[in-house]
Amino acid sequence: MDRIRIRGGNTLNGTIPISGAKNAALPLMIASLLTDDTLTLENVPHLADVEQLIRILGNHGVDYTVSGKRVSSTPGHGRTIHFTARTIVDTTAPYELVSKMRASFWVIGPLLARMHKAKVSLPGGCAIGTRPVDLFIDGLRALGATLEIEAGYIVAEAKGGLVGNRFVFPKVSVGATHVLMMAASLANGETILENAAREPEIVDLATCLNAMGAKISGAGTKTITIEGVTALSGARHRVLPDRIETGTYAMAVAMTGGDVVLEGTNAALLETAFTALRAAGAEVSSVANGIRIVRNGSGVHPVDVVTDPFPGFPTDLQAQFMALMTRSSGVSLITETIFENRFMHVQELARLGAKISLSGQVARVEGVGRLAGAPVMATDLRASVSLVIAGLVAEGDTTVNRVYHLDRGFERLEEKLSACGAEVERISG
Ligand code: EPZ
Repeated sequence: MDRIRIRGGNTLNGTIPISGAKNAALPLMIASLLTDDTLTLENVPHLADVEQLIRILGNHGVDYTVSGKRVSSTPGHGRTIHFTARTIVDTTAPYELVSKMRASFWVIGPLLARMHKAKVSLPGGCAIGTRPVDLFIDGLRALGATLEIEAGYIVAEAKGGLVGNRFVFPKVSVGATHVLMMAASLANGETILENAAREPEIVDLATCLNAMGAKISGAGTKTITIEGVTALSGARHRVLPDRIETGTYAMAVAMTGGDVVLEGTNAALLETAFTALRAAGAEVSSVANGIRIVRNGSGVHPVDVVTDPFPGFPTDLQAQFMALMTRSSGVSLITETIFENRFMHVQELARLGAKISLSGQVARVEGVGRLAGAPVMATDLRASVSLVIAGLVAEGDTTVNRVYHLDRGFERLEEKLSACGAEVERISG
């Protein structure tokens, strides 16, 4: 199994190209199930999760062809992939596939909308929490579907098709908002989603669905209105830049010091995180080709953050920010409100010398003057990258095991960091 070895101590200077967003690419790919025409997505990142979803969609009958740059070409220039679901050959998403990636559960929305039936394995829990699916079930029932749980599967049916309705999310959910938006696009009549997620990836999906002929308004606000249409067509859509990758490298620069341009991304995607980074002592500015992050001289100041749905501080940057705070000049409090078990990095950061104590959903991080390299491992994607950030300033070598977590969500991480002066290498096997 591959590992990443980091020798800490170098500042980061240069340019890092930002890839297309994993969490936008996945629902966009799933949207290809809604039409028998070709959906072309540009700027698709080369990630293990994307490859896995291609396999899952293939099981339903989605063909794909890739054009443009390949994995070995210039970093940060995503591929263009054409997805065509001419015929849906199977409306079952089996446990073996769904259990590997939670987002694949989201096929339930398009399958129900287009085929009026779906049998999708329950995704089960995962390392960061129990992650139930009650909001999907209640939302799809509101659109007229019947859903039963049988032997670990949700068996869903909408005889005669889905019917538009008003649905109020009792809790904000990115995935359930994606699914209901896709399902309602082909429902009969108008759907109003209240307390919807407002993440940029929701807006990206709505933009793509509208290009396919859907009638969606209000995406990016708490109320999304969808006027159902009878069929959707193909479209061409460019995946938006990855705000979590952007924030991760911004935190890496704030950690090591230096001067880096994050190319092809946009500060509006993560204002709350940049406010926290500025308070921590980094300079963040928009430049013609992206965002510039500088930290020279100043130390890292302690900053408290609380994760929240967009536009709040993203849970997907919580671990990275905690890594940064391990080197602050004081005490910071980091509160996780989205997932109940997203602190697995705490024990691993402690192996590098961090002082962190947990009380329920709050981590108290006391900055230390020095971290020291060690072998570490983490059980999820963002936790793993937080260890890389810590490793960039730890004295000596840090080896991050189980790199497959990083490969799920960070395209050529070691190449991007090395190009800016970090000593990072992948060790195979
Ligand atoms: C998306 O997951 C992202 N995944 C996650 O990124 C991200 O952490 C999360 O949104 C929050 O921003 C993708 O986009 C592929 P939710 P999702 O439904 O949609 C609860 C990463 O590292 N909930 O918004 O699964 C749930 O348990 C990943 O890239 C219910 O209670 O998250 C959680 O507490 C990890 N019932 C909260 O809502 C439901 O039916 C928010 O989850 C659904 C969710």
